[in-house]
Amino acid sequence: MLAVSFLPELADPAHALVVLSGAADGFAGPAAAVDAATGGALTRAAKAARFEGEAASVVELLAPAGLACGRVLLVGTGPADKLDALTAERIGGAITARLLTSGETQVNVDVAGVLSADLAAHLAHGAALRAWQFLPYRTTMKPRQKPSLADLAIIGAADAAATYARLEAIAGGVARTRTLVSEPPNVLYPESFVDKSLDLAGLGIELIVLDDAEMRRLGMGALLGVAQGSVRPARMLAMRWNGTGRDDVKPVVFVGKGVTFDTGGISLKPPAGMEDMKWDMGGAGAVTGAMHALAARKAKAHVIGVVGLVENMPDGNAQRPGDVVTTMNGQTVEVINTDAEGRLVLCDAIWWAQETFNPEIVVDLATLTGAIIVSLGHEHAGLFCNDDGLAGQLSAAGAAVGEKLWRMPIGDAYDKLIDSDIADMKNVGPRDGGSITAAQFIGRFIKPGVKWAHLDVAGTVWAAKPGAVHDKGATGYGVRLLDRFVADNFEG
Ligand code: BES
Ligand code: MN
Ligand code: ZN
Repeated sequence: MLAVSFLPELADPAHALVVLSGAADGFAGPAAAVDAATGGALTRAAKAARFEGEAASVVELLAPAGLACGRVLLVGTGPADKLDALTAERIGGAITARLLTSGETQVNVDVAGVLSADLAAHLAHGAALRAWQFLPYRTTMKPRQKPSLADLAIIGAADAAATYARLEAIAGGVARTRTLVSEPPNVLYPESFVDKSLDLAGLGIELIVLDDAEMRRLGMGALLGVAQGSVRPARMLAMRWNGTGRDDVKPVVFVGKGVTFDTGGISLKPPAGMEDMKWDMGGAGAVTGAMHALAARKAKAHVIGVVGLVENMPDGNAQRPGDVVTTMNGQTVEVINTDAEGRLVLCDAIWWAQETFNPEIVVDLATLTGAIIVSLGHEHAGLFCNDDGLAGQLSAAGAAVGEKLWRMPIGDAYDKLIDSDIADMKNVGPRDGGSITAAQFIGRFIKPGVKWAHLDVAGTVWAAKPGAVHDKGATGYGVRLLDRFVADNFEG
């Protein structure tokens, strides 16, 4: 993780230097000082690069005469009235994206007189998020491909360190999620997911692990039906963080789909792109990372994360299309398509979570349907919710951190599409509205009076291209959203 420090003034002027401007010329503050020291080179470079001060746009000045550093970046802030926390994070992301493999090891970002402490902390947060990469299996990288940037110093921001400490805790959760999502499926499977999460106890999180025998005893026939085609035994992991100092506060429960690899089972997926199904545990990854973030920043809330962990494989013991399984709450499900396995995992995980923890709110996250990608692409995750207030809280949290949600409909007319002739329900409806009928299935396992939201994150946990605060690959989607949802609504 990028090491961030906050200094009153420049300690080592030999490091790469970043200055900011919202305008094309007529620089102020540190940018004006650089311009003066370089005999106007910054103004000339900005002009040559058609710099307009647009947020997160970058002009690079190499080997500037008159300065001790090897390079200066002039980075746009956009207009002052639009310079909010998210914009500051994008600016930080642009800085690390440019310098990560530049050969520079340290950078000074001089924000004196330009950014508030809060915005400076968010700039550093964006820089740290964007610097994360997953390289443990790259053994032959050439030195000039390897990330060089290790330290970022914010210069001239008053008292940003406290704000940043909180954001750094959240970034730690994001990094945990991205690592889980990135690990290959021969390394990450239900048991190893649990093993890799045991260190959460060090943050003060209480861990509860159910093995397959215990889940069989509890009657989780739907979850175990998915797992039965794999040699990897299923696991359930619950993570409890109670930062309220009281034991009478009903918890918020987050539940994650943790299919560590989804072949489709007997309803086998086509080969092209099947490797992507290593990230079919992205919901579980987000829930685990969110628990990390909440505990690391000692959130004053009672939150429980539950992840249902299975591998969906086809073998001689795999469940068949046509099988009828019985869920933990006694409902029967006709398994029409073994590739609609996420809902089978979630229904037992969610029922167990409600029975065990008696929550007033359940939010589940799942890479549940390809159909949500057809609907929303990769910009928004789908939000399905039985309570307008909860939907508003989640949408607001997502908007605040740049992990956007788009509300989708649910209702009786959709619900009856999953009625079965032989059992209480079937695990797929018609092709049309596939994300909605998936949500309806989960909704049949929510107890009366429980506020529930389902986030279909199939389009957002993995990115084919780099974004403002992530590289290509695992995005960590959901961690900052859930953290913010807790911060804004349960820590009052
Ligand atoms: N994990 C997939 C959903 C998915 C597909 C996520 C593509 C990301 C990219 C899920 O288990 C699945 O296979 N869903 C099926 C449901 C269908 C059989 C009703 C789907 O979306 O095709
Ligand atoms: Mn599937
Ligand atoms: Zn799946």
